[in-house]
Formats: sequence, C-alpha cells, structure tokens
Amino acid sequence: MTTEGSDSGKIVLITGASRGIGFEAARALAAEGHTVVLSARDRVRGESAVDAIKAEHLPGGVHFLHLDVTDAASIDSAVAEVTEKFSKVDVLINNAAILRDHYVKASDVAPDTLDQTLATNVTAVHAMIGAFLPLLRASGQARVINLASGAGQLTGMFDKVWAPAYQISKAGVNAVTRIWATELQSDGIPVNSVCPGWCRTEMGGAEADRSAEEGTSGILWLASEAPADITGKFFRDQKELDW
Ligand SMILES: NC(=O)c1ccc[n+]([C@@H]2O[C@H](COP(=O)([O-])OP(=O)(O)OC[C@H]3O[C@@H](n4cnc5c(N)ncnc54)[C@H](OP(=O)(O)O)[C@@H]3O)[C@@H](O)[C@H]2O)c1
Repeated sequence: MTTEGSDSGKIVLITGASRGIGFEAARALAAEGHTVVLSARDRVRGESAVDAIKAEHLPGGVHFLHLDVTDAASIDSAVAEVTEKFSKVDVLINNAAILRDHYVKASDVAPDTLDQTLATNVTAVHAMIGAFLPLLRASGQARVINLASGAGQLTGMFDKVWAPAYQISKAGVNAVTRIWATELQSDGIPVNSVCPGWCRTEMGGAEADRSAEEGTSGILWLASEAPADITGKFFRDQKELDW
C-alpha cells in the first residue's frame, strides 16, 4: 500500500472500487478530503484506478488495497494491512457485487449461480463487517454503508423480476443491514443500505438514466452528513425506501 497524499478527514474503505460506482465514490470522497482505501481484487485495475485519482491532485489521499471479498485469506490480509497503516476504519462501504443472471427467468437460474451471487453480494458483506469490526470500533465515529438496490425491494419484486439471483441477493443485503444495525447499535455504529439508482456502469449498462457519479449521492451523504443515529434504514439519495 502506498502512503503518499494528504491524510486529512476520515479513513474510508471501499470494496470493488476499481470501476463504476465504487470508483466514483472513491474519487468524490478524496475530493472531500478523506483518506480513501480503494480496494479491488484485480491489482492492475485497482492500482491504475488509484493512479487516475492521484493524477487529479485532490485534497484527500488514496491508497490501493488488494482485496477479494469472497476470499477469507484476502480479507484477513486486508485487515492486517489496514491495521498496520491506519489503525482504524471510519467508513466501510460494501460496494463490490456481481450480476450474473440479467434477464434470466427464475426457472432457468442454476443453484450455482445463486450460490456465487450470494457469496459476493451477501456473505461477503457479512464477512467484511465482522472482520473489520475491531477497526470500526477503534474509530469512535464509524459508519457502515451497504450497496443495496431497488431490485431487492420485496415490495416491487412481484411484478419486476429481471435478475432473480441478483434480486434475491440484494434483498439479502438489506437483511444484513438490519441484523448488523441491531448488533452495532450499542457501539453507536450506524449500518445502512443505499441504492444508487440505475447507473451507467458495466453492471447498469449504457441505457441507465444516471451517471455513476450521480449514483454516489446517497453514499456520500451516509458517509458524513447523515445523522449518526440513523441506522438500519434503506435510502436512495437522502430518501428512505421501503424494504
Ligand atoms: N449500476 C447500477 O445501476 C446499480 C443499481 C443498483 C445497485 N447497484 C449496486 O452498486 C454497486 C456498484 O455497482 P456498479 O454498477 O458500479 O457495478 P460494476 O461496474 O459491475 O462494478 C462492480 C465492482 O465490484 C467488483 N467485484 C466483484 N466481485 C468482487 C470480489 N469478489 N471482490 C472484490 N471486488 C469485486 C468488481 O471488480 P472487477 O473489476 O474485478 O470485476 C467491480 O469493481 C453494486 O453493489 C451494485 O449491486 C448498482
């Protein structure tokens, strides 16, 4: 991990941040003066994302962290590296996700596809919060933000089914949010879900109505301005959504 750059503001760790919404959130948080730990499972893409942000000479720092969220050993070494360099995490943004069943009917989704989707989109979110808990507790002002999706809203699922495994996984993320929000209430650590809206990324496609940058608005709000007593909720931008 490189350590150049200004280290003012919060220590913010983002998963899957070499592209898309994670990358734009990293950029915007560095622009706000925070120290961003930009993690990615692909070292080359992750380091080049860090270089791109550094080239903008933003007020915050940006540091690369190698992390595959589905790999327990990778999470362990990420915890060790962040402990050594920063001793705490103020904001954990669980952004990494996969979508493997676009426009597949539920009857055509193989159980393996669901397993893989749940491993990245749900189990890894749970694993990340658990593994980074000592570093979150060390912050004294920690926040956890989980990237969910309107696609995971149970209220809309009956007539809007377009990616069953992904949608099941995003409903699962919201359950992870509620469960951890309950446990971490006594630590004063808010845990919330956020939907970025439909954004133009590799996952969202070119037809989406928002840029990846616009999709970061709720993330940025939850990372700093949102009152710390808001926990266990689901937002798009600053508007609360139904489950
Ligand atoms: N785009 C939308 O319209 C939309 C709407 C609602 C919610 N969301 C949510 O917003 C978040 C970001 O979406 P996006 O559109 O930016 O997606 P994206 O462009 O597909 O980017 C996903 C990121 O996750 C990373 N990733 C996947 N598996 C990983 C793993 N095992 N370990 C570490 N990183 C991993 C990818 O890394 P690689 O480059 O290595 O594959 C990539 O950097 C996701 O949680 C998504 O579900 C997106």
